[in-house]
Amino acid sequence: MNKIGVIFDLDGVIVDTAKYHFLAWKNLADDLGFEFTEAHNELLKGVSRVRSLDILLEIGNITISDAEKQKFLVSKNEEYLKYITKMDAKEILPGVIELLDILDDLNIKYVLGSASKNAPLILKQVNLLDRFLGIVDGNSVSKAKPDPEVFSIGADKLNIKPENCIVFEDAIAGVEAANKANMISVGIGNKDTLSKANYNFNNLTEIPENFFSAFLSEKIYR
Ligand code: BG6
Ligand code: MG
Repeated sequence: MNKIGVIFDLDGVIVDTAKYHFLAWKNLADDLGFEFTEAHNELLKGVSRVRSLDILLEIGNITISDAEKQKFLVSKNEEYLKYITKMDAKEILPGVIELLDILDDLNIKYVLGSASKNAPLILKQVNLLDRFLGIVDGNSVSKAKPDPEVFSIGADKLNIKPENCIVFEDAIAGVEAANKANMISVGIGNKDTLSKANYNFNNLTEIPENFFSAFLSEKIYR
């Protein structure tokens, strides 16, 4: 392996936006009159907005028309935007900047591969938009994670073969998508939850300095 590329998930890897998704979904559940807990919110990680609403409605045992669903998708996002438009660089998760600096030093290209349609706005808020070679987000795909489409498009943008792409993901659906895309999956978060990942770390500060150079010098094989 002499050329590698990296694809980063956004929510839960670069920034902790799950807490804002939670507040916005909880607001909707409150309006609909049922309890939505942080444990419920775990089910929505890495899942598209449309699918997230379906899961939320299943939790509340609520059936509504497609027109109402559209209305709730809009109002949930309006609520979410109230939080993310207040974000700044202080909300970048520990280890992110250091990791991007290492990649720049090694001349390894990286793109974003996120399910979020708000990804460009969030990256702009935290001042990271210009660092990525490309952005693949919820607007760019026809099939959501665990479908591999988001990462396959990312590999095309990197112009790197899928098997030489390293994906950083915090969600089960994302690890599954990376594996289906025939990429090297790195699970960020709970090792037991993300047991299908090729490598596991609790957070980005734990990535060893030589993690990428080892791939470049072909010292690591799957
Ligand atoms: C993912 C999050 O990154 O993006 C999910 O993990 C979220 O929780 C999904 O539902 C879609 O995000 P957005 O910003 O398009 O509503
Ligand atoms: Mg994520």
